[in-house]
Order: sequence, then C-alpha cells, then structure tokens
Amino acid sequence: MKYVIGNDHGGIDLYQPVKEVLENLGHEVIHVGTDSRESVDYSDYASLACEKVLNGKADFAILICGTGLGMSMSANKIDGIRAAAVSECYSAKMSRAHNNANCLCIGARVIGNETAKMIVSEFASTEFEAGRHQRRIDKITELEKR
Ligand code: RB5
Repeated sequence: MKYVIGNDHGGIDLYQPVKEVLENLGHEVIHVGTDSRESVDYSDYASLACEKVLNGKADFAILICGTGLGMSMSANKIDGIRAAAVSECYSAKMSRAHNNANCLCIGARVIGNETAKMIVSEFASTEFEAGRHQRRIDKITELEKR
C-alpha cells in the first residue's frame, strides 16, 4: 500500500518513527509534510496529503500535528476523506474495521513514539469489515452533500 504522511511543525517528531513503522510493514511512504520547526498551518498539509488519497497517488493518509485535532478537522472537511483522530490502539483498529477511515490523525504532543508506532501499525494491519458498516459509511457520504 501507499501512504502519504503530512505533518506540521507540531508533528515533526513523529514523522520518522511513523515512516519507519510503515516501511517495516512493507508500505511505500510519500512525505508532504514540513521538515522545519518553523510555524506553518496544519490545514495546508492536511489538504496536500488528502489530495494524494483522492487522486489515487496514495491509499491512506497519516496526518500529524500537535494534537491530531486540527489535522482531523481539516481533513474531514474534504469530501471523500474519513479522518480519525486517535490516541490509542483500539480506536485505531476500529477506525479501519468499522469506519473505513482513509486518514489517521495523531498528535505528537499527546502520544509518545512507541504509542504512535503501535497505533499506526494497528491502523495499517486492519481491513474494513464492510457488511452493515458499509451502509453507515454510505450515510456519511450522503452527509457530504448537505
Ligand atoms: C501548532 O502549534 C498546533 O496548534 C497544531 O500542531 C495542532 O495541534 C492543531 O490542532
């Protein structure tokens, strides 16, 4: 699978650990985040990364900011993106299994490297269960038309 990672200055410390865990699982990683600690706007990076998912250049986006919140709020404004802001493994797994999330958002000021790696690993290893969950995803898609 192909993953795109987008991060702002607040998410910079988790970029390498997240990249490594994805590559160790055999995934390809594209980086569209900032490499600098200079202050930037998370929405710009959410937009860049989600665009790659929507145009098929990536299967999933991982967005990292200070809390994961600004990234998830931005990403969820984009039609076709289902972003989950996650701080623990159970939600990471369920965001794929039940919500078919195509975007994982994590906060580098909230979780440590090891937790982040476990979350990303869980997200990347879980398939969407479809069935009754597809009906609910279709209803989320309907909400985009409002
Ligand atoms: C940047 O200081 C910080 O606000 C940002 O990384 C993120 O936490 C916003 O949700």
